[in-house]
Amino acid sequence: MLLLLFLAVSSLGSCSAGSPVPVPENDLVGIVGGHNAPQGKWPWQVSLRIYNYHWASWVHICGGSLIHPQWVLTAAHCIFQKDTDPSTYRIHAGDVYLYGGRGLLNVSRIIVHPNYVAAHLGFDLALLRLATRVGAASNVQPVTLPPEALNFTPEDECWLTGWGRTSYYKSLPPPYRLQQVSVQVLENAVCDQQYRNASGHTGDRQLILDDMLCAGSEGRDSCYGDSGGPLVCRVRRSWRLVGVVSWGYGCALRDFPGVYARVQTYVPWILQQVGELP
Ligand code: ARG
Repeated sequence: MLLLLFLAVSSLGSCSAGSPVPVPENDLVGIVGGHNAPQGKWPWQVSLRIYNYHWASWVHICGGSLIHPQWVLTAAHCIFQKDTDPSTYRIHAGDVYLYGGRGLLNVSRIIVHPNYVAAHLGFDLALLRLATRVGAASNVQPVTLPPEALNFTPEDECWLTGWGRTSYYKSLPPPYRLQQVSVQVLENAVCDQQYRNASGHTGDRQLILDDMLCAGSEGRDSCYGDSGGPLVCRVRRSWRLVGVVSWGYGCALRDFPGVYARVQTYVPWILQQVGELP
């Protein structure tokens, strides 16, 4: 039942920039191409929930990251309306199992980026303030934002995590364990060119905007239900939140990498909303 629901919910929203495309079925398990995440390895990963009356439960709609004991960063497109009542949402933290029976956290405030219109137009970020701070525990820890002057290259070690689909056509099966996959970051110009060539897009409007970042390759990508979740890269032995899952054409297709909100661009905005981070 939950599975069906998850299917229905996770295909909502401005998720894909195009219509469904056939994806070769493969037997990889994953985010797409990933595997089970160890408990406590990604302690900032949270699940964003909305209440479903039919199933009488809080169901997963998106991922998110703790960036502070009281703040979660997610994608703006995960929030249905800018002025949504915060009590419509709950946060689940500290467990690799999606419906692991832990308590849910209340949200007291929602800040959608004021310039957000649609994921493919950028500004796809939202901040959620938790009603209470989460206590420090080994499996609940905020992730650090990237320093403003630092470039991420294909040489960096970067990972994606989420409870989203394992292929365009398959949702994550029970027991809904968090999935992880390592991905390569691409240069924006390269990614823009790939999208253009592969989609036959003509005209000079940039598709991959400066506040976006591309990562992934054929068979390694985020997919529906991963949105809002983290793309982290390791910088001098510490993980930095480099991207927020935003959009893509299909999932894990050749020449269509996943597109992320480039967190670095928004560090000043985030700090302004949240106040200084610890
Ligand atoms: N927008 C999707 C969601 O709401 C995520 C899409 C990511 N797509 C991709 N190919 N990386 O879950």
